[in-house]
Amino acid sequence: MTLLNVTDLRGGYAAADEIVKGATLRVDPGEIVALIGPNGAGKSTLLKLIAGLLRPRGGQVRLRDRDIAGLDAPAISRLGLAFVPQERNVFGAMTVGENLEMGGYLDAAHLRQRRDELFERFPMLAEKRRAAARTLSGGQRQILAMAIALMNAPGLLLLDEPTAGLSPRAAEDLFSTIVALNRSGVAILMVEQNALEALEVSTRAYVLVQGRAEREGQAAELASDTTIRDLFLGGKAQPMLAGNAGGPS
Ligand SMILES: Nc1ncnc2c1ncn2[C@@H]1O[C@H](COP(=O)(O)OP(=O)(O)OP(=O)(O)O)[C@@H](O)[C@H]1O
Ligand SMILES: [Mg+2]
Repeated sequence: MTLLNVTDLRGGYAAADEIVKGATLRVDPGEIVALIGPNGAGKSTLLKLIAGLLRPRGGQVRLRDRDIAGLDAPAISRLGLAFVPQERNVFGAMTVGENLEMGGYLDAAHLRQRRDELFERFPMLAEKRRAAARTLSGGQRQILAMAIALMNAPGLLLLDEPTAGLSPRAAEDLFSTIVALNRSGVAILMVEQNALEALEVSTRAYVLVQGRAEREGQAAELASDTTIRDLFLGGKAQPMLAGNAGGPS
């Protein structure tokens, strides 16, 4: 059974202003699905519509066998879908431990147990449990943001540009963390600017253009598609083919 099935989803911020104009995508159990596309295409808006932070104006969102379009964000979290926004995804003035406790508010009875499991999975968070979240590095902060989402034991995690602003090294580490998380049984739908790197760790991908999923395919297939490379993956740079006619000038 498909885990997430989005059909012809529409919506935006103001009534007159439709940003997502009929987006269709799915996530199957076990997958990492990448969502790429130009700035302003509506990628973040699409994730917010799915997660219930914005109310869809049309279309369907099914999580397993339930229609969740129109439910609010806490109700959707309770059904096992967690969203990590691109910005302001941790409480900077609170400690790492307090951030995790905030994330677990939906299920107070299992809060300590979940937190301790996450400390085991991410020892860095255990070491820093009494440090204010604002003292973490960019990569550490993203791990905390994911851990906050994991406090509700979701089956599906939506990530909006998890590697934005990270050094190449930190981004690579974070992608490894995301893959490990996926192998532990969490399906992932992630928006990424580091498109090639995202495609490398993904099963399938969608290219969102002007509020619609224009292309869909196996991640490896999209990564080697010349049109996609030229449009979205930083142009024609292909080091092996960048012939040295005359060398650098
Ligand atoms: N809070 C908001 N209120 C009104 N309009 C918004 C808001 N956030 C985004 N928009 C508009 O919605 C459109 C799509 O924005 P969105 O953030 O979904 O794009 P994106 O694909 O995530 O882009 P980026 O790659 O820059 O993150 C843009 O025209 C943007 O100006
Ligand atoms: Mg965005």
